Amino acid sequence: MSTFSHLPVLAAEVLELLAPKPGGIYLDGTLGGGGHSELILEKIGPQGLLIGVDQDPAALAAATARLTRFGSSFRPVAGQFGDMELLLRQLGVEAVDGIVLDLGVSSYQLDTATRGFSFRFDGPLDMRMNSTGGTTAADLLQELSAAELERIIRDFGEERWAKKIAQRIEQVRRQTPLTTTLQLADLVYQAIPRRFHEERIHPATRTFQALRIAVNGELEQVEKGVRAGFSMLRRGGRMAVISFHSLEDRLVKQLFRGAATGCVCPPKMPCCVCNQRPQIRLVTGKPVTATEAERESNARSRSAKLRVAEKLGTND
Ligand SMILES: C[S@@+](CC[C@H](N)C(=O)[O-])C[C@H]1O[C@@H](n2cnc3c(N)ncnc32)[C@H](O)[C@@H]1O
Repeated sequence: MSTFSHLPVLAAEVLELLAPKPGGIYLDGTLGGGGHSELILEKIGPQGLLIGVDQDPAALAAATARLTRFGSSFRPVAGQFGDMELLLRQLGVEAVDGIVLDLGVSSYQLDTATRGFSFRFDGPLDMRMNSTGGTTAADLLQELSAAELERIIRDFGEERWAKKIAQRIEQVRRQTPLTTTLQLADLVYQAIPRRFHEERIHPATRTFQALRIAVNGELEQVEKGVRAGFSMLRRGGRMAVISFHSLEDRLVKQLFRGAATGCVCPPKMPCCVCNQRPQIRLVTGKPVTATEAERESNARSRSAKLRVAEKLGTND
């Protein structure tokens, strides 16, 4: 197993835009190795509280070891950020001053062969962030129909060869169960005609992304988490969300825009009947991306997009 290593992306930008204040209460919904949390804890000081949520027991253990020096200012919590309202209320926290969601998987998860997230190593086709239960990628490949697999690969991988890949999966699994990362990577490699292989990305990249999203219900989590975040933020509190692929970023953009929109009555209506008020204001219009220096030193940062929103009060 690899040791826990993960560089927080857009760290300076998150700190600047979240602007954690001494004594404040913050939620890191994707604790991972604790990189962003550590920076926030340094800003909020001993009177502050940082609640770090992760669904991966290995991440919680690593971050807890890293952040012990902050004592009771740091509270690790096992769970999903989509359930943050419940998790926070269980701690007696009614509102927070800021929230960070650094979506997706950590470098540690990607680099640990036994977790099955990457075709760079041979490993079991697992892909669960919460390794204590639930359905694995191998289960999905065994149990879903070809049509369901095609939909997942197309919708979550934006893969134009989804049908061919799903058909190939169906053929192969009749002979032998698909249980390893290299088996799947090889199958996808064969399914996509050679002249359509791209130079810079492995043909299996999109299929792996799709299965990972399906196994972990990632888009549902983003939707639930962002909506819950809007309701848990205090007036003036900020939420920073970092996404790593277009599906995630599109969803975050839509959720932010929806919550920043006021009245949606048709223009001809003499007065407002929808009573919809903006919940937030957009702090970032366009998403913030990594500097050239960060892109050079951390390849993961190249696809990162940061969006930040600020909670409005009822009278804003
Ligand atoms: C990109 S890493 C976060 C890295 C972290 N910001 C740092 O600086 O070390 C994402 C982490 O969030 C966790 N995660 C992803 N989706 C989650 C969810 N819905 N609920 C809880 N944890 C989640 C993953 O297990 C992973 O550890």
